[in-house]
Amino acid sequence: MNPAPQILSISTERLHPSDFSISVYGQLESDSDDLVDTIQTEGVLVPLVVTPREMGEGWEVISGNRRLACARRIGLREVPCEIRLFEGVEQKNRAILDYNRQRRKKFSQLMREADVLEDFERPAAIVRRDANLRQNQLSPIDRRNSDNRHNRTDETIARSIGIGGKDLYRQARSIWRTAQQGDIRASSGVALLDLGEKTIHAAYKDLRRRDRFTSGFRPTPYDVWSFKHDRAFGIPHPGSIPPGIIANALHYFTESASLVVDPMAGGGTTIDICLAMGRRCLAYDLDPIRADIKSHDIRNGFPDETRDCDLIFVDPPYHTMLAHQYAADGVALTPLSEWVEFLNSFVRMAYTTLRPGGHLALLMANQTEKDLPAGHGYLDHAFFGYQAFLAAGFLPQRRISCPMAGAYLPQHVQRARQDGRMLGQVRDLLVGRKPLTELG
Ligand SMILES: C[S@@+](CC[C@H](N)C(=O)[O-])C[C@H]1O[C@@H](n2cnc3c(N)ncnc32)[C@H](O)[C@@H]1O
Repeated sequence: MNPAPQILSISTERLHPSDFSISVYGQLESDSDDLVDTIQTEGVLVPLVVTPREMGEGWEVISGNRRLACARRIGLREVPCEIRLFEGVEQKNRAILDYNRQRRKKFSQLMREADVLEDFERPAAIVRRDANLRQNQLSPIDRRNSDNRHNRTDETIARSIGIGGKDLYRQARSIWRTAQQGDIRASSGVALLDLGEKTIHAAYKDLRRRDRFTSGFRPTPYDVWSFKHDRAFGIPHPGSIPPGIIANALHYFTESASLVVDPMAGGGTTIDICLAMGRRCLAYDLDPIRADIKSHDIRNGFPDETRDCDLIFVDPPYHTMLAHQYAADGVALTPLSEWVEFLNSFVRMAYTTLRPGGHLALLMANQTEKDLPAGHGYLDHAFFGYQAFLAAGFLPQRRISCPMAGAYLPQHVQRARQDGRMLGQVRDLLVGRKPLTELG
């Protein structure tokens, strides 16, 4: 029979949150008002669980950090604590994980728990690995047993952290490990998982799909490139574009290790495709949302480091389109005449910074319906772009149609049908080449 737990009143000043708990679950975000009210009227009903600190004076809190924070907030000098003694660090840390079993956790907290549990399981895993190395000498039955043991570890961890079965846990671990290696898209997946805006399976599929431009990319042999989104590239951004458009542009207008510049990089789709296809990339934005996009206003010219680049790929927000989703002083907010002026100066600056023979690829949609000058049915931005190309000295190479199929929700399509309106799907990629010599 277990002895009755020892309960003592301990000064709140002598109680310290556990470093291990902070490393797994982070700093306590806030103490809750409800709990403060309860403690104020009824006191701390459930004792905290504490153990003597290994280093220094006082006690380490194994369970009850929120109760302690609330007690301190209302000025309680002492709180009831149950004393527990542990046989070692592993036993103590396992107890902390157990006390947190019921707590609602973010994906990253679950995965930090899993990291700890994997460490606990490591000695057994080494034994299993040695057995696997000998597997050739094992009978089919022994081999099956060995595989089962391996599966069992993942199954056990999946169950402990409450993440479903071993397969889902392996997907989660793959996302988590890739993010820890500094992969920006995997980190974005973790952030979305923490917010509950993505499932583990969807985030995992995003990671796997990105390999398709590295191995076996099949370029489109026509000048119509499908506008199909794929969240595996770029991080979420209101204006992100389909990676296939960039991949085809890289295929036709650059070579391996070419230097690509995206001066309005948004969610960084261009960076990710360059990485997958072995091109170098410099990316900028007025309002960067990733560490590998530098802060720069392209109206001030191209940065020096972009000089003699091979391709400039740009997907600008123009005129009033998407105006309210971007940085307040971006080019999207300028009136039409200023927008066309900006476009001309941008194309001239791109001409100067490209190496002779380099390309500028400019993605432009027709503007329909919204914010049109009086009497206009549409604004032909690609036409403004074409004029800017010729004025700057570019040799037009191709106008590639990238129709935005699937860009509308079924209710938008239905409403357009009812109103007898045409929805705009036209989007074009204009490509111009800087001549090798003054004569082309
Ligand atoms: C259509 S989005 C680009 C989306 C990107 N292609 C993607 O796939 O995520 C246009 C970007 O231009 C940026 N921008 C607007 N004005 C700018 C300026 N003057 N200099 C640099 N970037 C600007 C906006 O912040 C926005 O991120």
